[in-house]
Amino acid sequence: MQVKKAVFPVAGLGTRFLPATKASPKEMLPLIDKPLVQYVVEEAVAAGIEQILFVTGRGKRAIEDHFDISFELEALLQEKGKNDTLREVRDIAEMVNIFYVRQKQAMGLGHAILCAREFVGNEPFAVLLGDDIIDAEKPCLGQLLDVYRKYRGPVLALEKVPMENISSYGCVRANGITDRIFEVTDLVEKPKREEAPSDMAIIGRYVLTPEIFPILERQEPGKGGEIQLTDALLKLSKDEAIYGCLFEGIRHDCGDKLGFLKATVDMALKREEFNTEFEEYLRERLCRRQD
Ligand code: UTP
Repeated sequence: MQVKKAVFPVAGLGTRFLPATKASPKEMLPLIDKPLVQYVVEEAVAAGIEQILFVTGRGKRAIEDHFDISFELEALLQEKGKNDTLREVRDIAEMVNIFYVRQKQAMGLGHAILCAREFVGNEPFAVLLGDDIIDAEKPCLGQLLDVYRKYRGPVLALEKVPMENISSYGCVRANGITDRIFEVTDLVEKPKREEAPSDMAIIGRYVLTPEIFPILERQEPGKGGEIQLTDALLKLSKDEAIYGCLFEGIRHDCGDKLGFLKATVDMALKREEFNTEFEEYLRERLCRRQD
């Protein structure tokens, strides 16, 4: 069965990025001129996704507005003859079919995904987290879908991270099938460094199957008092094989201030319109700091 639906849980509070996220969603923070969430929606569309469900919460209206038609803005751009910008703005609203559901309380990622049960129905589906921006030749979700098509089971995006950072992630123990594809044998959410089963962290891209829902429904709160997807996946792994894919590409954790800054610099250096000028500026600033 083809994966046509994707769930975007965006109901988290974004506490690592306060005060910027006090009144506006972290998913709307712009990397140069596009909000984070648009990069991720574009990745999903490039991987063949046709329907997206945003699991939203209080204070996330800006996301809905961003993917909607803005009549006043479009009329103004048309009147001023700014046709390229008009097309760009209109394309955002026409990119993909988008649906919304509210997670009334931020009870954890697992709970947010449970809110997507009706939308998903009895199909495999993708989950993308809006603050992991992945710069890759082939979209990260596309890489996971290749694994799903071959092995027909849930697939998690994995990345090797420095052990001193492992306790910020869900972490897996896994047996290699190839050098990039693994069968997951254990999962732990935010383990202490000395208890982590490996240096392989779960990153914000998943292909899941509807078998996760009855488990999530009964899942007790775990780390941080939240209903954790990792805990539900551990239970699922006892009954069916779960796969991991060490994706190719560079991931930026844009929910973190330093990660966001690095992503901004990387993206700016890739943009033709100010590439050399920006690079020269960075060099000059670094030289001045060394003096
Ligand atoms: P994070 O762990 O990054 O939490 O959630 P957060 O609240 O967004 O950010 P910090 O850690 O406080 O800075 C991972 C993903 O799960 C979503 C978030 O929106 C994010 O995309 N999420 C988390 C929900 O949708 N609902 C929740 O109850 C928790």
